[in-house]
Amino acid sequence: MTSTQTNSDTITQTKILSTQPQPNPFRIHALERTDHAMQVWLFSGLFWLTIAMIIGIIGAVKLFYPEFLQSIPALAYGRLRPVHVNIGIFGFMSMGYLGAAFYMVPRLTQAPLFSETLGALTAWGWNFNLLGGCLAIMMGFSKGKEYSEIPFPFDMGFGLLEIAVAGNIFSTFVQRREQRLYVSLWYILLAIIPFPIYYTLGNANRFSGVEDAIVNWFYSHNLFGIWLTTLGLATLYYIVPKQVKKPLYSHTISFVGFWTLAAFYPWNGGHHVIWGPVPMWVMSASVTASLAMFVPVFATIVNFGGTALGALSVLKTDVSYRFSILAYLGYAGASLWGSSLAIMSFNAKIHFTYMTIAHVHLGFLGFGIAGLVAFTYFYLEKSRKLSYSQSLAEWHFWLTVLGIVGYVASMAAIGLIEGNEWEMGNSPTGTMMLRTPYNIVRAISGGMLLVGQSVFLWNIWQTLTTSTESAEKSLVPENSQN
Ligand code: HEM
Ligand code: HEM
Repeated sequence: MTSTQTNSDTITQTKILSTQPQPNPFRIHALERTDHAMQVWLFSGLFWLTIAMIIGIIGAVKLFYPEFLQSIPALAYGRLRPVHVNIGIFGFMSMGYLGAAFYMVPRLTQAPLFSETLGALTAWGWNFNLLGGCLAIMMGFSKGKEYSEIPFPFDMGFGLLEIAVAGNIFSTFVQRREQRLYVSLWYILLAIIPFPIYYTLGNANRFSGVEDAIVNWFYSHNLFGIWLTTLGLATLYYIVPKQVKKPLYSHTISFVGFWTLAAFYPWNGGHHVIWGPVPMWVMSASVTASLAMFVPVFATIVNFGGTALGALSVLKTDVSYRFSILAYLGYAGASLWGSSLAIMSFNAKIHFTYMTIAHVHLGFLGFGIAGLVAFTYFYLEKSRKLSYSQSLAEWHFWLTVLGIVGYVASMAAIGLIEGNEWEMGNSPTGTMMLRTPYNIVRAISGGMLLVGQSVFLWNIWQTLTTSTESAEKSLVPENSQN
């Protein structure tokens, strides 16, 4: 295995012809790739991100102004919240990053996607399934379990679609012409192979009580850890070396990071029920696994840090790279923060506060949004050879940074304040009103993120529709790795 992931996305067709006297016979021609499926996945992900933001802002406003839209039962807070969460996770994160995976896999394996048609059909099926599941929740049909709210038959729909997606990607992998396994591929395989099993376990389990909670958190944690985080890391491992035009800092560190993540992450689920009525060994094992996550997280910090060091000048000129660095900081921050939340004494203090909400949104906004945006700009510029508006991208970047900082800082601050108050004997009802100004800051920060997202969508739309050369340039051979 080798991890050398380099910069040749920037090579134009002319350069390839002139600098490669002996073209590698194993390189597939870009004409074999249509990227149709990846586009449906990616742009659907960006669409759902906008919807998740709008619903998140409505929910945020309801938390300090409960009369807002209160006459519409479908928009009651108890229904909107799971819709926001499911659209964020299954719409934005899953679809967007699967789009990135559908882009990366043919390039990393040097084989065309096993089936573009199946890829596009599964994306449309996923969209309709998510829509159906969310409408069902808004009509009051929820399974009532966190991260498994989507009711039958839509939960089963996701299970089948996940198997079809995994089959498509894995069949491409089996037909690979490139024998080296790049780091991004390891992570993609780690996401797609076990996740349909975790999903089925979480959604079809017939346990009750404590067993149900343990199984549900085993599934839910792997939804964030093994499904979304690994797809996100795969994307960063792919684009960062190309953005800085340098190979990854260390292959050995990637190796350590990958295998320790694969070994420790699946056992983190119990940290969601610390001090709950679960056996002590479940808590201790998951706390140990959560602290052990320092190893893969540090490996990633060192590897990306080493790769980025010396290429800081790229930050000034490449907005896409800036978003990658934001995603890197978001990942490192959310993960180190997550390990600290698993320390039992600290967890006792903050579990029911907004501290968890701050951690979650640092993960999804800092790491999730920034990484997918970095990939989208990268895709437009380096792969499609389209130039987007730099000034709009600057606006997008700074609105996103301000939105994330405002959201995370306000929630973390009130989380600590409430935790301290409760420790001193004040009751949750007693501190409830303290939340109001922080909830207002959160809603304003969400508004900034939404404005930034609108600028981004407008920029993409303009770029795709006003460029006359896009179709031709998208077929430029992309000598993707090494
Ligand atoms: C404009 C941006 C956003 C705003 C204003 C926002 C707002 C909110 C609000 C108000 C809650 C409920 C908090 C509570 O009940 O105490 C929440 C929860 C949540 N949001 Fe967001 N959100 C945003 C973006 C996102 C995105 C993009 C995702 C991506 C997956 C996401 C994932 C979640 C999750 C998983 C929860 C549940 C966390 C938990 O139960 O611990 N949010 N959000
Ligand atoms: C080393 C990595 C991480 C560790 C050890 C970790 C640990 C934790 C802990 C202990 C909690 C529970 C806090 C509580 O409720 O008392 C939690 C909640 C959560 N984490 Fe993480 N975290 C990590 C990374 C991430 C990342 C990168 C994401 C997102 C991309 C994420 C998403 C979530 C979500 C959505 C919840 C809320 C679950 C809920 O209560 O509804 N975590 N995490």
